[in-house]
Amino acid sequence: MEIVVSGIRPTGNLHLGNYFGMVKNTVKMQHENRCFFFIADYHSLTTHPNPADLHGRVRQVLSEYLACGIDPDTATLYLQSDVPEIAELYLFLNMNAYLGELERTTSFKEKARKQAENINAGLLTYPVLMAADIIIHKATRVPVGKDQVQHLEMTRNFANRFNNMYKTEFFPEPQVYVYTKEAIKIPGLDGSGKMGKSEGNGIYLIDTDEQIRKKVMRAVTDSGPSQPNSEMPESIQNIFTLMDVVSTPDTISYFKDKYNDCSIRYGDLKKQLAEDIIKSVSPVRERITDIYNNTDYLHKVVQQGKDKARESAAKTVKEVREIIGFKPF
Ligand code: TRP
Repeated sequence: MEIVVSGIRPTGNLHLGNYFGMVKNTVKMQHENRCFFFIADYHSLTTHPNPADLHGRVRQVLSEYLACGIDPDTATLYLQSDVPEIAELYLFLNMNAYLGELERTTSFKEKARKQAENINAGLLTYPVLMAADIIIHKATRVPVGKDQVQHLEMTRNFANRFNNMYKTEFFPEPQVYVYTKEAIKIPGLDGSGKMGKSEGNGIYLIDTDEQIRKKVMRAVTDSGPSQPNSEMPESIQNIFTLMDVVSTPDTISYFKDKYNDCSIRYGDLKKQLAEDIIKSVSPVRERITDIYNNTDYLHKVVQQGKDKARESAAKTVKEVREIIGFKPF
């Protein structure tokens, strides 16, 4: 079995794009690998979150992932800040991370541009902390998007550098985890592009039925086909792509036929789509709320995750200390 590590940033809420893409794959993956999933709350400090908000945000993402089907008895699900061994490994790895390579990191350059008033050392050494997250469990696979590929490359460099420095084969080289099933690309509702957090075109798992209806009815369409069997513009294709994941085959072919004989009414199409989205999202939303309000359950999950994660992390750090040359008196 591969050892998989994946970090979740405690920012924003999950939307349909996340849900039908990454989250469904993650839920599936947990049964096929030894998985460590954690909320990256140390990492989130680079943007100086308000102490009053931090806990609630962590609780929210935790509830959302649990509601989507991450099973804390199968995977190890924990908070990064519950595992101080990660901070210790981060310290060790920092001794072998060089200013030049850190300054050249694409994400650092981007963030430095975006938050010019707060270019802190945590931002600079973000890839080192991420490497510590990964190699602390001797992970072999990491499911990452394109934007994280460079960080994973750096993780391999830090791991190899440690191995070479101490003439050991201690850390394996973590590779990208490629999902067995192609992640479905969920389009946004604004006519083009994919659903994303920042674009304001997303439907969130925690949206109410009313919010979902409103958002879908506002989706971009056009004036409708005037020739039978004409090609679909992107905005209409997008609506059908969403239907592909939430509607029945009968419903889809009903509306496709209507499109092809030019009798389609986009209002009806969108009404149907909204109801079908509600059908698949509202049970998840209810689970999120139940879990969010169930302090006993969350406490148990977090405690169990912490114990399992620390057991694995402490073993690695103990061995790393020996390799480095720390000895007990
Ligand atoms: N950097 C990742 C992101 O921005 C989050 C993350 C932190 C992560 N540590 C990780 C992902 C370790 C995978 C493995 O999304």
